[in-house]
Amino acid sequence: MATIIGIAGSLRRGSYNAALLRAAAELAPPGTAVEIASLAGIPLYDGDAESEHGIPPAVTELKDRIASAGGLLLATPEYNSSIPGVLKNAIDWLSRPPKDVFGVFGEKPVALIGATPGMGGTRLAQAAWLPVLRTLGARAWSGRQLYVAGAGKVFDPDGRLVDEKVRALLSELMAGFAKFIGG
Ligand code: FNR
Repeated sequence: MATIIGIAGSLRRGSYNAALLRAAAELAPPGTAVEIASLAGIPLYDGDAESEHGIPPAVTELKDRIASAGGLLLATPEYNSSIPGVLKNAIDWLSRPPKDVFGVFGEKPVALIGATPGMGGTRLAQAAWLPVLRTLGARAWSGRQLYVAGAGKVFDPDGRLVDEKVRALLSELMAGFAKFIGG
């Protein structure tokens, strides 16, 4: 069984990106499991806190999970045409200390998806992640792209992905990414 760690870059209870990630887990092909990780417990990065107390337990646990997974799936919101701070903050912590970066992210297959109530479908946020992934030495997957716009109509009030076209695109994306990681 290939395992993909899924992270949504939003702390919002009704997050569209968390809903998209749940749909990705549901639509993953047989033989592939998406384990959804939480950003809860990851503090703001503070170099003094790192020097004095080391890496927070929630960060160490997530580093270990990513290191042993076959791939990483990021469901990213778009804030001011770029990366959302909470997810960048988490990735920054996960990249500490530098000696661990290759073990966590090196050559790790990473896929990006994202949802927004706006028109752009998180295109700019997804593009903004690419230099970050390159810096980490990850293998950004450049197969099927998914930019979910108009999220208010694509999910029902319970956060279920109800748009059949988007479900089909997400299924294809998950099948392609699973193949990429060898699942
Ligand atoms: C946004 N939003 C937004 N949407 C977008 O498509 N492009 C953008 O540049 C921005 N910028 C932006 C900045 C800030 C500070 C906020 C709070 C919001 C709207 C954003 O897509 C929306 O709040 C989503 O619902 C956030 O994702 P979750 O929390 O639903 O996963």
